[in-house]
Amino acid sequence: MKNEELLEQAKIASERAYAPYSKFNVGAAALYDSGNLYLGCNVENGSYTVGICAERNAISNAFASGEKGNLIAVAIYSPNTKMCWPCGACRQWFSEFEKGQNMKIIIENKDGKPEEYTVEELIPHRFELIP
Ligand code: THU
Repeated sequence: MKNEELLEQAKIASERAYAPYSKFNVGAAALYDSGNLYLGCNVENGSYTVGICAERNAISNAFASGEKGNLIAVAIYSPNTKMCWPCGACRQWFSEFEKGQNMKIIIENKDGKPEEYTVEELIPHRFELIP
């Protein structure tokens, strides 16, 4: 699947966000090497800290759906900012599922074009419980 298509799917997911507090909608599309794609959006809560980000929601969706493949790409989109960088917690989640398959993190740049990054670029010197 092309990066443009993945961003388009993330955009669709962002329209489903539940973000009444921040009013900052985010969508994510997580692609596995099985060819399966899972969407996620941020879901906030009146008890602010228990909300979940779009990226972790997409990956959770994959687990709940029984996905057994490797995560190979995550596209992230927000209509509220130009480059929607993933937060630190989501970067740590990407790290957990990066098993040498060279996962790509895709975001839209200021010109509306996809840019891709590796997990290593986004979270160097990362914590690993089992190295
Ligand atoms: N958010 C995400 O969904 N993903 C990120 O990587 C950054 C932040 C959400 C969390 C919260 O609902 C809103 O954006 C504002 O922080």
